[in-house]
Parts: sequence; C-alpha cells; structure tokens
Amino acid sequence: MARIFYVTTPIYYVNDLPHIGHAYTTIAADVLARYHRLAGAEVLFLTGTDEHGQKVQEAAREKEVAPQAHCDQMVVCFQELWKKLNISHDDFIRTTESRHKSVVQSILTTLYHQGDIYKTSYEGWYCIPDERFWTKKDLVNGCCPDCGRAVQQIKESNYFFRMSNYQQWLIKYIEDHEYFILPKTRRNEILGFLKQPLEDLCISRPRARLAWGIPIPFDTDYVTYVWFDALINYVTAPGYLNDNQRFSPLWENSLHLIGKDILTTHTVYWPTMLKAMGLPPPRTVFAHGWWTIEGQKMSKSLRNVVAPTMLIEEYGVDALRFFLLREGTFGLDSDFSHRALIHRINSDLANDLGNLLNRSLAMAIKYFNGSLPSPSPLEGVDERVREKAAQVVGAVEKHLNEIAFHKALDAIWELVSLTNKYIDETAPWSLAKASGNQERLATVVYTMLESLRSIALLLYPFIPSSAEKMWEALGITQPLRHQRLDTGTRWGSLVPGTVVTKIPPLFPRRES
Ligand code: MSP
Repeated sequence: MARIFYVTTPIYYVNDLPHIGHAYTTIAADVLARYHRLAGAEVLFLTGTDEHGQKVQEAAREKEVAPQAHCDQMVVCFQELWKKLNISHDDFIRTTESRHKSVVQSILTTLYHQGDIYKTSYEGWYCIPDERFWTKKDLVNGCCPDCGRAVQQIKESNYFFRMSNYQQWLIKYIEDHEYFILPKTRRNEILGFLKQPLEDLCISRPRARLAWGIPIPFDTDYVTYVWFDALINYVTAPGYLNDNQRFSPLWENSLHLIGKDILTTHTVYWPTMLKAMGLPPPRTVFAHGWWTIEGQKMSKSLRNVVAPTMLIEEYGVDALRFFLLREGTFGLDSDFSHRALIHRINSDLANDLGNLLNRSLAMAIKYFNGSLPSPSPLEGVDERVREKAAQVVGAVEKHLNEIAFHKALDAIWELVSLTNKYIDETAPWSLAKASGNQERLATVVYTMLESLRSIALLLYPFIPSSAEKMWEALGITQPLRHQRLDTGTRWGSLVPGTVVTKIPPLFPRRES
C-alpha cells in the first residue's frame, strides 16, 4: 500500500484579506504535498476558511452585509490567491458548509451525553478581539494578557468542556511523543504551560451576544465557540464519522502546519478534544515563526501589511515561493524586505540557477544542434556530479521530513553550484575548439543537462511552474508532475537524441 501523507494549514479567518503570513503556511504545505506526491505517497492536502465567530460577524456588520454573504465574498480572495500561488490543495473546507456543521454538532452531542460537556454560570473577563475569557489573575494591568487590549467583565452561563480532566494524560502524551510538537522549543513551551492547572474550556457563546456560529444542538440559545468549531475541520474533511475507512489512515499520518500564535489551541485544546472523542492526537503539529516587515511587526495600523498578490505581480510567483522558504528557518521568525527578496532573486535564482540552465542549453544547441549527445563512460570529474545528484535526493528527503525547507533548498543548491563549477573546470568551449575532443565534449554536455534534470525534479515542489519550464526546455515529453522521485532521479534517464530548446531567462536579474 502507498504511504499516506495528510497535511493541513490553519483555516484562515475571513474577516480580512490574505497576507504574506497566510501565504507562507500555505506555500509550505504545498511544497510538502507536492514532494510527498513525487515520492509516491497518497496525499491529502487540506486548507480552508474559518468563517464563524465574533471577528467575522464584526467584519460583516461593518460592511453592512449578512455574515454568510460576507464569507461568500471573502472566501474568493483566498481561493484566487491560492490559484495564483499554484497551491495544489486537494480539498478546501469552509466551516459554514453543512458537511462540517453536522460533524461539529454530532461531536458536541456525543461529548455532552458522555458528560464531557456541562453547563455552569461564571464570571470572567472577555477579550472581544481574541474571543477569549480570562480570569482576574490572568489579566496584565487589567488588560488581555495576549494582545494587551481592554477586556470586558461578563457574567453568564455557558457550556464547558472538561479539558482539565485530560491534563495529566496530555502531559504524558507529549512526554512520550517526541515528534508531536515541533520544533522542540515549542514542545518545551507547552510542557511549561501545562505545569499550571488547566481550566475547563468554555465552548459556547450565548446567541444573544454572538449569533454567528454553529448552534449548540442541545441548547439553541447558544452557538459554538469558534475554536471548538474550527479545529474540527481537520477531521471533517478526511471523512470522520462519514467514511472511517478513509479517515483513519489519513489521521494516523496527519501533520498540522500552524503559526506560533495558535500553538495552545492546537496542542492543548485540540488533543484533549480528540481524546474525549476517542481519537488520537494528530501525528505532528509544527509551529512556524512569524514574518516581520523590514524589522517591524506587520499590522494594519502601521500600514505595512504585505499583500501577496502585489509581490506576485512584481516578482513572479516562484521567486516569492522560493524566497519565503529559503530566507528563514521555518520554526523561527524571519524578516521580509524587498531588498532581501531582490538579493535572493539575483544571486540564487538568476545567477546560480538561471545561468546554469541558460549556458547548458546554449552549449547543447551550439555544439550539438540541440540534440542531446550520447555520453561516453564518465571520468572522475563527471562522477562527482553524478554522485552529488544522488546524494542530494537523500538530503532533500531528510530535510523535508524534518520540515527544514531552507536546508532542503541549500542541498539542491550544492548541486547547482557543483554543476556550475564543473562547467568552468571542464571548459566545454575549449574542448570544442580543439579537434578530437568530440566524445569528451558530448559527455560533459550530457552530464550538465542530466544534472539539470535532477535539479528540475527536486525543485518542482518549491517552484513548480519554473521547474516545468526547465523540464520542457530539456525536451522531456513525460510531464514533470507524473514523475516519481525513485525512478526520476536515476542517473542517465535523459535519452540521447532528445532535442533541447532555449527559453527566455526564468528569473531575469533585477535592479537592486
Ligand atoms: N482561524 C484561525 C486558525 C484556525 S485553525 C483551526 C486563525 N486564523 S488567522 O487567519 O488569523 O491566522 C492564520 C495563520 O496566519 C496563523 O497560523 C498565524 O500564525 C498566521 N500569521 C498571521 N500573521 C503572521 C505573520 N506575520 N507571519 C507568519 N504567519 C502569520 O488564527
């Protein structure tokens, strides 16, 4: 049976337009999905939108449209951006879809009947923008400890999930499963957080205060707390309660990519909810860092929110995809600047990769009329390229299994650099000048193009449309997306006689 890989992004709130932070996680998930497909796995890549709750209701009210109409308008912005970014998700879930609402309601009913949900009246301090209750001791200078904004004191009855019952189980689970929370620093952060007693989780909102949510099935005066509703999307889409045969293997191989700010919801709320439902936690939750913009926090008030569409128009989709995953370490914060992006384009993409492609194609055309020559037995210098190409396949696999995108790209760039160096050392232009070197020249040109074939294949998950253009320029007729890593990376797969063609620069140099 094929290996299974299930990857998710957070589902994005539709209160505002997508920004570079949303694009970041979605591109990262896309790279993993494409890579695992290439490696022969059966993949489910899920993304979607979080459409309930106060933020969305407020945004709709400001626009003076009904919440559902607002969601219907906003979801298109996300879907169109994913198209522009070449995102290859297999499913897109909206929490207002009936397939999701019915699963949420079934889960609520089950947990209520088994005693995991109860009603009580209590007093708390509520942060409207964060939609979170705090106790008095949580507050910092009387404000929300998370965002620092003012809180409102509220007394009401609500439904609670007995999260505290699962605290000891959760601690043990995290301790026993080294790869559940990644990176390690985040795992330690959560274990530290769990040293304090865990409170039960308020999972309802009175309809009188917030109408835009999934009705609580056993009490229509209430709607479901948006996080309790949203997290369930990860099991709705693969078929929980509807198609368990499909669901179970996917769930066992699940990976949630999230931003560091939503770590607690995913590694405390979610696994305890799942435990109550009789399901194991997702296999891994990986929390990535945040992007700052020219050293500053991205925020509407600073007017520095970076719109991905603008960057795509200015720099091209693959330059953006490449930059976001190459520039920083996935688990740490990174800084965006146009200067850094232009630098990456010029040095890595135009100089290293672009030049390698252009000069290799140009030499094949000049010396062999574009028709790929047959190589003779490889010499030591050629062997080094072949060995590197084989080694990089393993390195990319290792780094992507560890979700270290920049290291995977670094490994591919070792092959790019080595091949550029190989061309300089073997100097095909000199071989072409002297007579009697035709066989050697053929081997050198074959070796550089064969290396480029491996490079295109390995780069496909990262920069799919550029890799496809490279593939076509190499004259390979079987589509790149149908390739498999194991057979595709076998040295010598380029068939002599294949006709290569020159193409315009994939990544033109930019003025810095
Ligand atoms: N709807 C919830 C997620 C529910 S998942 C069951 C949500 N949505 S969000 O639209 O506000 O944020 C989505 C993601 O964007 C989060 O993972 C968050 O970390 C990420 N980012 C928001 N700003 C960011 C940066 N400046 N940089 C990187 N990612 C950022 O939270």
